[in-house]
Amino acid sequence: MDVRVIDHPLAQARLSTMRDARTDNAAFRAALQELTLMLIYEATRDSEVDEAPIHTPVARTTGYRLANPPLLVPVLRAGLGMADQAHRLIPEARMGFVGMARDEETLEPTPYMESLPDDLSGVPVYVLDPMLATGGSMVHTIRLLHERGAADVTVICTVAAPEGVERLDGSGLPARVITAGLDDRLNESGYIVPGLGDAGDREYGPR
Ligand code: PRP
Ligand code: URA
Repeated sequence: MDVRVIDHPLAQARLSTMRDARTDNAAFRAALQELTLMLIYEATRDSEVDEAPIHTPVARTTGYRLANPPLLVPVLRAGLGMADQAHRLIPEARMGFVGMARDEETLEPTPYMESLPDDLSGVPVYVLDPMLATGGSMVHTIRLLHERGAADVTVICTVAAPEGVERLDGSGLPARVITAGLDDRLNESGYIVPGLGDAGDREYGPR
């Protein structure tokens, strides 16, 4: 599986702010938004472009735009904090939504919402979720996308656990991962170590 860790100093500085237990909700959301811009920037690095002639005030030259903009899919709740910034960089993107909450006993995802286009064949998809822990939520999400024909899925997450990457890899679903941190492990409660805690709670407060 293609896993890219973005180790740019600015990305690592934002991730450090998110990890720090002293960071309040507002500062956490701000750091997540800025880090999302960087992760999306890296995710689109090799995207195909269309060329078209444009005129600057001085001369004719070649202009570029994304040939096939991705569908953005934030996974609620925590992925919602990444949606606006991803859309800011790719304003022509469509957006779908998946809502899922992890059962803290079984660690299995409980889906409660999906709003996705029916046909995703030929459409690149960027799934936005700050955390890839056991991988249960992500595998469920990518399965929904795959059922609709998506064959080119990019997982954009701030922190991933090796267990989640392994589960994704073992699922056989088509995906690559762009993350700012590949952490050590999961603890006995299914939290990423060192991680940053509960991303949804840190963005929006406890449920
Ligand atoms: C968090 C996170 C992921 C999921 C990751 O969401 O945003 O969606 O946990 O865990 P997993 O890889 O073990 O499935 P959570 O279920 O806590 O819901 P929330 O975003 O509403 O807080
Ligand atoms: N979900 C989170 O928000 N944090 C973790 O560490 C694991 C799952």
